[in-house]
Order: sequence, then C-alpha cells, then structure tokens
Amino acid sequence: MTDTSIPAWDADGMDIAESILDLIGQTPMVRMKRVSEEHGIRCTLAMKHEVTNPGGSSKDRPALEMILAAEASGELQPGGTIVEPTSGNTGVGLAIVAAQRGYKCVFVMTNKAGKEKVDLLRAYGAEVVVCDVAVAPEDPNSYYSVAERLTQERGAFRPNQYANPHNPAAHTKTTGPEIWEQTKGRITHFIAGAGTCGSLTGAGRYLKSMNPDIKIIAADPEKSVFSGGSGRPYLVEGVGEDFFPAAYDGDLWDEVIPISDEESFLMARYVSETEGILIGGSGGTAVAAALKVAKDADDDAVVVVFNPDSGRGYLSTVFNENWMMNFGFLKECDQCVGAVLDTRNASIENLLYVNPSAPVSEAIEIMRSNGVSQLPVCKNTPPFANAEVAGAVDELQLMDVIHRDPGAMGTAVEKVMGAKLPTIGVGQKVELAVEMLETAPALLVLSGGQPLSVLTRTDLLSYFTAIAEDAHNRD
Ligand SMILES: Cc1ncc(COP(=O)(O)O)c(C=O)c1O
Repeated sequence: MTDTSIPAWDADGMDIAESILDLIGQTPMVRMKRVSEEHGIRCTLAMKHEVTNPGGSSKDRPALEMILAAEASGELQPGGTIVEPTSGNTGVGLAIVAAQRGYKCVFVMTNKAGKEKVDLLRAYGAEVVVCDVAVAPEDPNSYYSVAERLTQERGAFRPNQYANPHNPAAHTKTTGPEIWEQTKGRITHFIAGAGTCGSLTGAGRYLKSMNPDIKIIAADPEKSVFSGGSGRPYLVEGVGEDFFPAAYDGDLWDEVIPISDEESFLMARYVSETEGILIGGSGGTAVAAALKVAKDADDDAVVVVFNPDSGRGYLSTVFNENWMMNFGFLKECDQCVGAVLDTRNASIENLLYVNPSAPVSEAIEIMRSNGVSQLPVCKNTPPFANAEVAGAVDELQLMDVIHRDPGAMGTAVEKVMGAKLPTIGVGQKVELAVEMLETAPALLVLSGGQPLSVLTRTDLLSYFTAIAEDAHNRD
C-alpha cells in the first residue's frame, strides 16, 4: 500500500504560509498623505487597508471565524455544506475558507446582483442560485425562501452574518489589536462604515477596552437607519441598513456621520486618483466621514479610517462615467438637461408624484390640476429627497383602465401602474434627452442619485423655443 497522505509540513524558518487562511488579517495601514495635504489636515490620517486579505475585503475575517466556531460547536461537520444569501464580499470569504477546509458552498442571490459577482463566486467553486428580485419574500421562490429551503434540504450550516456573534468577534480578535499595535496605542478616532456592524462594533470593542477615550464613529449612508433614516433608498453598497443587526451597539458608538451617495462616490474617485489607492463607494463613505473628523481634530490626533474593499468591484458603477452621469453624479456639459429644467415654469419645478397606495382617482386629479400627462409612482415621500421610484402612470394607460372598469377609480395605483420612466442625469446632454424621448413619453431626471423632475417633449420644445427667441432678439 502506498501512503497517499502528505507528510506533516514544517516551514523550518521559510517565509511560506501554511495555507491561504494564514494570510487573512495583518493588513497594512497607510497614511493618507496627499489627501491630508490637499485638505489642510494636520493630524495623522491613516487608512486600514483591508484589500490585502486573500478575498480582497475585510469579510475574510468574519468568514473564517464563523466557520471555525461552527466546526467547534459541531454545527458544521466534515464535508458539510454552507448556505448563505449574499452577493458580496462575505461570499468570497466563505468560499475561500470552504475551499481550504473541504466544505461545499451554496450562495443565494437575486438577479439584481451583477454577472461579475455571480461569476466570481463560481470561480471559487461555489454553487450560486439566482432568484428573481421581484418575487415577494413569502413566495417559495423568493431569495429568503430559497435560502431557507436549501439550508433545510442539505442539512447545511447558515452563518447568518447579521446575527452571528462570531462576526464582530473576528474583528475584536484581529482588526482591533492590529490597529492598536500599528498605531502604538496612539489611535484617537476609528471610523468605519457599518453594514452588519461587525467591523465597527468588533474592532471598536477592543479599542475602547484598551482606551475608553478612543472615539468610535460610524460613516453611514444618508437615509440608513443608523443615522436615523428609513433604510432606503441609497446606492452605496455594503454599508447602511434598513434594520438594526445584532452587532449594532449604539452605546459603544460615539457618533454617526451621514454621508450622501454623491459624497461617497466622488470621494472614492478622488482618493483613487489622488493617493493611488483604489477604493469602492463604501470606502468613499468612510473617508468622507474621516475627513470631517480629521479637519476638526487636534494636531496630535491619530484618525484611522477603515477601507473594507477595492474599487475593482465597482468598475461598472462608481468608476463608470455613464453610470455616474445617468444618476446625475457627474456633469457632461454646461448646457445640459439641467438647463432645460431651469427654463421651465417654476410651478412644476418640483417633482410631482403619486404614492403607490393612492387611488387611481388621485393620480388623475394630480395630472389634471397640474396639466401633466404622466406621473412617477414613488414610495417614501415626502420629503421628496426620500423618493423611491416604484413605477409610473400616464393618461393613456389610466384612460384605458377606467374605460374598461369605471370602478377602478378606487383601485390602488400600484395595481395598475406601468414600468418606471427611463432615467437621465441632470448633467447629461440635451441631445440624449431628444433621442430618448423619441420612444419614451417622458424621462425621470436624476440628480445626486435622486429623482429631481420629469422631463417631457413639451419641456424640450419650450427650451428650444426659448433658445430660438433668444437668438432672434440678439440679431
Ligand atoms: C462592501 C462592504 N461590505 C460590508 C461593510 C460593512 O462591514 P460590516 O458588515 O462589518 O459592518 C462594508 C463597510 O464599509 C463594506 O464596504
């Protein structure tokens, strides 16, 4: 019989890790020198750069810790299966640990997650089940139901990072002590975005235990619950929530700084270009908050900002010009769609909308009294800044509905509404609006990621007429 087991390995002084799992953690810290100079920041502003983890994000730490704990408790048996609904970095972390320790991984995602994310997890050998995002949570084919069913059917372990105490514990064990060591105990402020709250609470607990004066600060997407919002909608990925996860610890956190999508994305781009450190949108959220803190801090303060992952995962969003322009984060020209809105009658400058639960009669009344032919259907309003677009209604469509059933006047708008209006950024070219309006009845103009106004053919006609009259008067 040949012995197929490999002999016990002895590094014997060689600088070779036993496995990729030994490369999780011990991430570097780097001073944000150029950003500090450009902002007149006199204290030490440093980034804890989690990108050097094997999976490219901070989530490798909790992934390892949650699996080791499940092995220890017997929840995960040799050769077992891990099921987790995730589209992001946690999936990568779990897949890496699973590959190394011989587990199968099944990730449940919605079809909202980009193809790249599905491909990435499959590249690690994971099984990915994609569910339709439009399906209601109670439907057996929903994201939640499928994850639940697969967990049962396969007798799988479900890490559930939102409730698992080993998620924050990973950061208490590793991230916190690393930062303490790297700053020689001189850290005064720790700033991180919070999703599951594992990083901020976990590392924060360790840091406070070493020095209770260290300020623990959450950088939170505006409208997320941690900064007092309703939870949706915002565009930054991975941070902010619409509920309070188990690791949320309001007593430990000294401050929550709300940061808009626009600030986050522009900051991610700025840091990447200025420091040569490619960070993502949520890294931008954290840095934007850290700059506010560092500007007011004493000269001897040591402000540490936590950067969870790399901008590489956001090349088709934050670092894509078209995407940024379509949401109104970037401007393509001076005389663009915003100029058309400026020439328009001030009385309809603010977006008109109808709530999904409002009766059809209300939609008709809003359209009639304002002389418009279509309305976006928006949740979470007012104030308007919270608008979450659900669909749209137009004259023709409502006429048809009522013609067929006069009783439909009392029906909720959401039951009869059509698809959302196509969107255009406030900084995009007027020519693009003309092209789009050849096929669409109206466009929804976005500014800073939020709906600003509806743009119609009549608006463009008024704009072009005003330009023509202007030219005529000058001749
Ligand atoms: C992409 C991403 N995921 C998750 C998080 C949040 O970490 P946690 O879930 O530990 O709160 C962050 C934090 O900035 C993040 O950027």
